[in-house]
Amino acid sequence: MIKETNTKLSSVELMKMEDKYGAHNYHPLPVVLAKGEGVYVWDVEGKKYFDFLSAYSAVNQGHCHPRIVDALSKQANTLTLTSRAFYNNRLGEYEKFMSEYFNYDKVLPMNTGVEAVETALKLCRKWAYEVKGIPNNEAKIVFVSGNFHGRTMAIISGSVDPASTKGFGPYMPGYIIIPYNDLEALKEALEDPTVAGFLVEPIQGEAGVVVPDEGYLSKAKALCASKKVLFIADEVQTGIARTGTLLATCGNCNCQSHCENKPEIKPDILILGKALSGGVFPVSAVLANDEIMLSIKPGEHGSTFGGNPLACVVAVEALNIVKEEALMENAMRLGKVFRKRMQDLVDKSDLVTLVRGKGLLNAIVINDDEESSTGWDICVALKENGLLAKPTHGNIIRFAPPLVITEEQIHACCDIIEKTILAFPAN
Ligand SMILES: Cc1ncc(COP(=O)(O)O)c(C=O)c1O
Repeated sequence: MIKETNTKLSSVELMKMEDKYGAHNYHPLPVVLAKGEGVYVWDVEGKKYFDFLSAYSAVNQGHCHPRIVDALSKQANTLTLTSRAFYNNRLGEYEKFMSEYFNYDKVLPMNTGVEAVETALKLCRKWAYEVKGIPNNEAKIVFVSGNFHGRTMAIISGSVDPASTKGFGPYMPGYIIIPYNDLEALKEALEDPTVAGFLVEPIQGEAGVVVPDEGYLSKAKALCASKKVLFIADEVQTGIARTGTLLATCGNCNCQSHCENKPEIKPDILILGKALSGGVFPVSAVLANDEIMLSIKPGEHGSTFGGNPLACVVAVEALNIVKEEALMENAMRLGKVFRKRMQDLVDKSDLVTLVRGKGLLNAIVINDDEESSTGWDICVALKENGLLAKPTHGNIIRFAPPLVITEEQIHACCDIIEKTILAFPAN
């Protein structure tokens, strides 16, 4: 049963309040959540839902995981923030833990995903001038179309999505944008000797869970290595067990106990965010070896909150849970169960044409165009039936439940999705 919430306002009243006093930069599904536990969330009227978005993969460990909340509250009663003007007694331990966990020399702590991507780009440029020897202010970074790396000016400058870019120019120079999953285009781009880095999501989440061809990432990494160009992986969404391995750039290693990051696919710069926090508050990180990381010197980059003691203890607990609760294995196994059930639905329904994904990062594609409202309408119907998901485009719905989900719950969710879609009128 849901406990008493601290507000007496109804969902409708709360939505109206947000609409009146909040900026209109989001268009949420009409549900107002008041509580979360594991794979479930409850709205203010007490209706229970399966969360099939997990705050865009930030809540991989499940809502309000008691160990994470406990670590947070103990530390919150002791020391929350020092800034980096001083040392704190949690940061060094956290940095050692992170470096060993992900197998890099060093970590640079930040807060949000987009800040970590910005940090990676700055690191790449500095390395280009200090180590690679590219003439000052000439370094270029290769992006791919369909990317999503966040919302700051430097990051949207590498986007091709008009919703992200329109009306926000002028844009940051020094970027080359090539098609995703296209090694020939990458090879051609790398002919430019001023290219310093290649930024890529191993699976494009916001684009609609677009999975590249087998071998794309390792071949891209090899091409980069042959030109002394940094292979930069944005694993903000795909990382931390979501795709069935600790990282999507793990290749085929099974992450049974410790991820070895196969050398042929290991990024030169790894970007993490979202689930690093267990969904508690923003924690992000950039990992690299000394040759790259030490290009940035004191005073050249930073963040008031990055590396705060709260973040350090939360992230350590969030990562311990990933291994101790075998979330990678669960995501791998249940992802197969989920896609099998969705493939059955594709065979039965005229409305769903495709299921794709890896681990528990999956999407279905609806038989309609990108501008249609069908994906949205289905998500509203799913909500009525007790499951929360969000379209990534008009015709693609992403399904990404917390990784603590059980097989029984996955089947219950597939039943809801199937029932909802089969009841939905095809065009
Ligand atoms: C791949 C990727 N990179 C970066 C970001 C930005 O993260 P944040 O919203 O925490 O800034 C996102 C957010 O969805 C993402 O999916």
